[in-house]
Amino acid sequence: MIPVPPPRGGHTGARLVGLDIGTSSVKGIAIDEAGTVLRIAERAYPLSVPHPGWAEQDPDDWVRAAREVLAELDADHADGIGLAGQMHGLVALGEDDRPLRPAILWNDGRTQAQCDAIEARIGRDRLLALTGNRALAGFTAPKLLWMAEHEPAIHARIRRILLPKDYVRLALCGVHATDVSDASGTLLFDVARRTWSAELVDALHVDRAWLPEALESAALCGHTAAGVPVAAGAGDQAAGALGVGVVAQAGPASIVLGTSGVVFAARDTYAADPDGAVHAFCHAVPHAWHVMGVMLSAAGSLRWLRDVAAPDASFDALLCAAAAWEPGAEGLVFAPYLAGERTPHADPAARAMFAGLTLRHDRGALVRAVLEGVAFGLADGMDRVAALGGRPRTARVSGGGSRGRLWLQIVAAVLDVELQRTAVDEGAAFGAALLGGVAGGVFADVHEAVAACVNTADTIVAPSGWQQRYAQLRPAFEALYPAQAAVRAALG
Ligand code: XUL
Repeated sequence: MIPVPPPRGGHTGARLVGLDIGTSSVKGIAIDEAGTVLRIAERAYPLSVPHPGWAEQDPDDWVRAAREVLAELDADHADGIGLAGQMHGLVALGEDDRPLRPAILWNDGRTQAQCDAIEARIGRDRLLALTGNRALAGFTAPKLLWMAEHEPAIHARIRRILLPKDYVRLALCGVHATDVSDASGTLLFDVARRTWSAELVDALHVDRAWLPEALESAALCGHTAAGVPVAAGAGDQAAGALGVGVVAQAGPASIVLGTSGVVFAARDTYAADPDGAVHAFCHAVPHAWHVMGVMLSAAGSLRWLRDVAAPDASFDALLCAAAAWEPGAEGLVFAPYLAGERTPHADPAARAMFAGLTLRHDRGALVRAVLEGVAFGLADGMDRVAALGGRPRTARVSGGGSRGRLWLQIVAAVLDVELQRTAVDEGAAFGAALLGGVAGGVFADVHEAVAACVNTADTIVAPSGWQQRYAQLRPAFEALYPAQAAVRAALG
């Protein structure tokens, strides 16, 4: 009798759990060792906006939600757990490891003055050389400076600082740790060397004892009370990219059409944008980095248009109406800066606009212009990403906006890239589960995890002639940013 070889890796029926500590909820997923989804669970929590432009959350809400999701996923019987989460948030802990105040989140805009002060004190070029990034209002270090200025009594009691998913880790495993991808978004991390930047930490008067150990993403950081191994994990973007198989420079890039839009490419060597227009972070893969452009309103722009102009229409109906228009919608163009912009303009005050409206334009034309405007915004990010190590021919696309084929055809044409959808589109939680699988010994490394679990479902290419047509239309889009800046200036 011919012996039956053991299944890949010698594991049957593995249960790998990934958690994504998001801005609106904890999303959890349980998969097996082939990437098949066994179960999904989610628990929401509130976002607090105590002042316009601020965004805070109670870290204990994340822990409560995470525990409920883990129970629903039967995580006590998992072979490994991985954590992913919203990046950049500041959780300041006192002597007793309890939060001293609500966490200040990635989308909180209160720290522009502190960002300006950091760039003035360190020098923008030196900051870029040390951390790979500019000081952006959402990042962690400026929040510490804000606390020192505005809440000195609380700041004086800080003994530890953690990122959001790392506070959940503390509750689950009793360990103060982070991972290199999430640490990259603090502005205190030497991204090239994958370690805390002593120079910056000292220059910003941060006590080195406050900082958690920064591990590689797939490293084992500890165990839950039930003895389940937990991986260091990753920031949500790095985990999401891993979950769609974006791990190496030679492979595909990743495009996310979520509320925000992301162009993400893996790099085999450290690369940073000399202007700091795209982020340079450590990847969740050892010896790999990633460059990333983030636009703040992608599918968020389409949702806004639907909510204000067609609240009763389905997205399918809107996309169908948009498909009736030719590329360019007879001269209608849209600047997608509804919430300001990060890449490439780094301008929180940027504003959206439609230009070129005529009596002929209907709802479908507005939708088409939004889809195209977002695609042009992504192209701005892609150009910066491509300048740092080459233009990808293929990209994996994910997020709510990737369900509509028309939008993907437009993105494929504007970015001149072939798009692939994966069989599972569960975002960062799926990537986190893969990291849990490595930490739990189910996979040898992240490459084996991706090979075992990530499969493409279909490919979308640009319809004939669209790429040339959109190349002709792009200068009209590029004229919008200065135009809205001029309108803002005139408004005073
Ligand atoms: C990444 C970023 C977001 C947040 C929230 O730089 O700001 O991805 O992590 O999702």
